Amino acid sequence: MDGRVLGLNGVTVRRGGENLLDGVDWSVLEGERWVILGPNGAGKTTLLNVASSQLHPTSGRAEILGEHLGGVDVFELRPLIGYAGASVSGRIEEDTPVLDLVLSAAYGYLGRFREEYGVPDYGRGRALLGHWGVGDLAERYFHTLSEGERKRVLIARALMSDPELLLLDEPAAGLDLGGREDLLRRLGKLAGSESAPALVVVSHHVEEIPPGFTHGLLVRDGAIVQAGPLDEVMTADHLSETFGLPLKVERDGERWTARAV
Ligand SMILES: Nc1ncnc2c1ncn2[C@@H]1O[C@H](COP(=O)(O)OP(=O)(O)OP(=O)(O)O)[C@@H](O)[C@H]1O
Ligand SMILES: [Mg+2]
Repeated sequence: MDGRVLGLNGVTVRRGGENLLDGVDWSVLEGERWVILGPNGAGKTTLLNVASSQLHPTSGRAEILGEHLGGVDVFELRPLIGYAGASVSGRIEEDTPVLDLVLSAAYGYLGRFREEYGVPDYGRGRALLGHWGVGDLAERYFHTLSEGERKRVLIARALMSDPELLLLDEPAAGLDLGGREDLLRRLGKLAGSESAPALVVVSHHVEEIPPGFTHGLLVRDGAIVQAGPLDEVMTADHLSETFGLPLKVERDGERWTARAV
């Protein structure tokens, strides 16, 4: 795999005469922690759908964990990829117990109890829920949880199969201030852990970049505006171009803020 977790070359996704992604070149190396920023409709979720092997490019080449998308059985690849986002929560049936949802992730199911789980599975599922601060919700039905609780459960679920690549689409969206800060702290802790998978987090807000993240990808109109180490990417010029308005960008330690000027 050569230390390269993800390699996109000229990836274009075309739907209804429009390019949702337009010739995207992007690599993620082992140990890197990426944030993807861009306005609504920029193509961030489409990019994660390619990176998680759920969507094949119309043209170009996508390599995930050393396997060429199109030349590999995606059902072998998917347990190696953790994914949490709105498309997952939207497909969960009512009355799915939280712990079942987490356990079933290792098999690519969304909560249907299809496998015989062993004691270690239960232990790992409960430990992950506890680690993300929702250990006491294991017996609840997923649809009865608050938005913030759901986000944490879905991250625990995404980590269940011990993936090599973790993709989170807007993990902090819909959280209150305390919930956001708590989640960022936990993501920062994960980012700092040597055993953590390569991380890619999508967000609309520079305030939601967790501490310890190393790289940034700025996306607009299906194309990359800038990609590279956070320090180089997170300039007022680059972010203004990405979001289409003049911005002032500030850094305070490992956190960022941006506002219109
Ligand atoms: N199947 C589809 N057919 C046509 N257009 C699509 C399809 N899926 C997505 N799009 C369009 O592609 C563009 C990019 O969508 P995408 O969901 O990737 O954006 P995003 O950056 O994740 O936006 P947001 O920040 O709002 O989540 C949008 O304009 C969207 O309407
Ligand atoms: Mg999106």
